[in-house]
This record gives sequence, structure tokens and C-alpha cells, in this order.
Amino acid sequence: MKTLILSDKKIDVAAEILKEGGIVAIPTETVYGLAADAFNKDAVKKIFKSKNRPNDNPIIVHISKYKDLEKIVSNVPEKTSKLIEKFWPGPLTIIFKKTDLISNVVSGGLDTVAVRMPSLKITRQIIDKSSILAAPSANISGKPSAVNVKQVLEDLDGTIDAVVDIPNFSCNIGIESTVIDINDENTTPVLLRPGAVTRAQIESIIGKIDIDPRIIKNVDSQHSVVSSPGLKYKHYAPDTELIISESERSDYIKFVNSLDRNKNSALCFDEDLRHINIPCVSYGPENDINIQSFRLYTAFREIDDLKTKTCYIRINKFKKNNDGLGIYNRILRAASFKFS
Ligand code: TXA
Ligand code: MG
Repeated sequence: MKTLILSDKKIDVAAEILKEGGIVAIPTETVYGLAADAFNKDAVKKIFKSKNRPNDNPIIVHISKYKDLEKIVSNVPEKTSKLIEKFWPGPLTIIFKKTDLISNVVSGGLDTVAVRMPSLKITRQIIDKSSILAAPSANISGKPSAVNVKQVLEDLDGTIDAVVDIPNFSCNIGIESTVIDINDENTTPVLLRPGAVTRAQIESIIGKIDIDPRIIKNVDSQHSVVSSPGLKYKHYAPDTELIISESERSDYIKFVNSLDRNKNSALCFDEDLRHINIPCVSYGPENDINIQSFRLYTAFREIDDLKTKTCYIRINKFKKNNDGLGIYNRILRAASFKFS
């Protein structure tokens, strides 16, 4: 299959392809999504095939307006309404009880559906011109999500119908949306995946929420029942073995500079870069979470280009805090929870 590269002036063509059951990679404010008409099972199946995604991993459904919600969810609890009012459109995905219009192909066999309304205008325009869209991240399953057209094509060229290309665009947030499960009104809502909408922001609107322990702990969930099937798979990982270092700058620099530069690389902060003598890439200033989030997945791909066996990534203490939790979670999983 030849993958068409459609400029942002050609979203009518992208919408036509989607209406006809094709799959198209589309930009969003978080990461690129690989979209299909959410009501067309055969189209959604193509997404699983192209990404090599396990069938039981459900897909987020993307809507462009509040009215869309009525068709696909059977109930909107009060706390959910408050979150919607505050955070939509934006990088917050909410789990609802689904209606029959959402097939098991989309929901991975669950009776729930994950929904979000993207804040990037062009994404909503594409939805308006085509259909409500099912869209996971536009990458091979297990790899870092793609944040620009080049990365989408590295993973999916020849297996998808088209990709929408905005000149010089890179997804502004850089990591996937926050996912919250709030559909049981009798239990405390659970944060399933941290992202740009933080736990503290959510709690300021609806009160206490829990966080799924697997966000920061290596619980073997391959054989357990999981609330979010995505949590049980290795995720966001470069091909290079990644090991986390919590050392202060000077200790980290001393350590990486003692390593064999033919086999090892460093993924560090901008300030560390000029002191390091082994192949290295930085993922932003030490104190800027937003730039780190924007850069992280691109930095993972750049590390792979260095072709070293092992990469030591430096993180700082404040990663574990509220604002840094999304990045910390992606790094933990990319490193399979390995620390030096
Ligand atoms: O920012 C994002 O969310 C991007 C863009 C494209 O919107 N999408 C994305 O989709 O990251 P994906 O499929 O890569 O991640 C969806 C996550 C998975 O961990 C999946 O298991 C979880 O959401 N999920 C989807 N439906 C669910 C459901 N009904 N219950 C629990 N978790 C669900
Ligand atoms: Mg994904």
C-alpha cells in the first residue's frame, strides 16, 4: 500500500478516506493518532493489524463536540460532567459505560469505552468532516508514540492509507493523554495513565482520586485482571536497553564518562550535555517538565539512532511529583523499571 502524505489543506481527502473505511494518521495535541471510523469494525481491525496491537487492548474514541457523547456512552456521572466542563477539549481521556454502537473491537471486549475530545483544532475538523474516530497512538505497539510525520512514517509507512502533515509541526504535549476511570459512582475514581492533566488538577475539581499502582510499580500483571489492558504491556520503549539513574549531575557525569563509549550512551538534561564524553542526547532543561515531555519520545528515537547497547537516562527527584508523573511513568516503562 502506498501511504499518502496529505497537507493540512487536504483534510477533506483525509475525511473521505476515513469515511470509506481507510486508516489515517492524524495530529493531536498529545501524540499522533492512527484513526479509523469508530463505527466501522473492519476499519478498526486494520488499525490493530498495522500497529501489531494486541486485540484485547481497547482504543480511545475521539469526539469533536459534546453531543457526540450521547451516541457512545450510556451514562455520564456527575463527577465526570465536572471534569468534562473543565478539561475538554484537551488531553484528558475518560472511561464510560459504552452503548451498543461501540463494538467489542473498539472496547477490547470490555463494557466500557475511553473517550476524549482533542484540543487541536484540525483534529476536531477531521472528526467533523468524517466520523467519531477510534484512534490509538500512531506507532508500532510497544514503541514510543510518534509526535511528527517523520516518526509516523518510520513505523507505519506502507501499512496505512494516509498521514496528515502540518508543516513543521510536532505534537505540542508530546506524551499521551491522562486516562481516568470514574464510571463506578460508588468507588473512588482511579487514574490509569498520568499525562498533562495532573492528579492535583483533577482532585481540585472532584476531590480525592486513587492512582493505579502500576503507574509507578512493577507489578506483574500479565496474569491478573487489569482495569486498563494497556497497563500490562511493555510500552513506549526504545530498542536500546534503558537504565534509569537518579544521581546528581556530577556523579552521573563521572559514571557515564567511565563507560565504554562504543557500547553505552547517555540520555541527559541540556545542562549535562557538554560534560559528557560518550554518545548522548538531551531531553530538555533539568527544570522544565513541559520541554522534557515535548522532547522525550523524539529523544528515545535519537538514542536508537546511536546504535549503542545500553543507555543511561538521568531523572531528577521532582519527576515523582505531581507534574512530573506522566514523564516518570513513561521512563519507568521504557526502562522496564530498571535502575542503576
Ligand atoms: O493522547 C492520547 O491518548 C493518544 C492520542 C492519539 O489521542 N492516544 C493514545 O491511545 O495514547 P493508546 O491506544 O495508545 O492508549 C490508550 C490507553 C491504553 O492504555 C488502553 O488500554 C486504555 O487507554 N484504554 C482504552 N480504552 C479503555 C477502557 N475502556 N478501559 C480502560 N482503559 C482503556
Ligand atoms: Mg499507545
